[in-house]
Amino acid sequence: MASPVRIAPSILSADFSRLGAEIEAVEAAGADLIHVDVMDGHFVPNITIGPAVVKALRPHAKKPFDVHLMISPVDPYLEAFAEAGADGLTVHPESGPHVHRTLGQIRKLGKKAGVVLNPGTPIEAIDNLMELVDLILIMTVNPGFGGQSFIENQLEKIAAAKKRIVASGRSIALEVDGGITPETAKRAIAAGADTLVAGTAVFQGGASRYAANIAALRG
Ligand code: DX5
Ligand code: ZN
Repeated sequence: MASPVRIAPSILSADFSRLGAEIEAVEAAGADLIHVDVMDGHFVPNITIGPAVVKALRPHAKKPFDVHLMISPVDPYLEAFAEAGADGLTVHPESGPHVHRTLGQIRKLGKKAGVVLNPGTPIEAIDNLMELVDLILIMTVNPGFGGQSFIENQLEKIAAAKKRIVASGRSIALEVDGGITPETAKRAIAAGADTLVAGTAVFQGGASRYAANIAALRG
């Protein structure tokens, strides 16, 4: 039997004035991971949060912090996010000159290493990285904002990533991020995804809806 899908609420869609309470609420509602979107206004157009906020939020969570770094250059900040309490750090190959070195550095910091592919980045970008990653994240929107529509043609890339993971024989999570709803979740899971990031679909309707929203994504 396939293992159950993991849900990673993206706090980008939470109430930023009460982030600690929002994390506690999604954990109580069944979240498996907390997805933290870090944006610098340079690699992506939006600016979000930095290591100080991650550190302040960490005591509010029991589940792992899945930190998605959309910053460039990324290398100078790995240690700060690791020390702030990230459990996994996921990087874009475009965010530094040597992604292989960056992933090795994340492992050296004792954290789970993730690589993330933008919609325009070909699947081949992971071919020489398989032994260095614990997670592959396929973006199903262009990074920068919550609330965008799922890009259907990324389903093929999810399936191609799944094939490579199976062929590698390694235990690598396959995560998708962007435009995940109960409907698109089904297609992403069918293509091979085992971890779903969702902002809008989890946080819409307020805290009384979080458990139902998360359950709906599990299919
Ligand atoms: C986009 C972020 C996503 C975003 C997803 O750059 O990486 O994690 O929060 O938001 P939704 O689920 O609303 O598409
Ligand atoms: Zn993200």
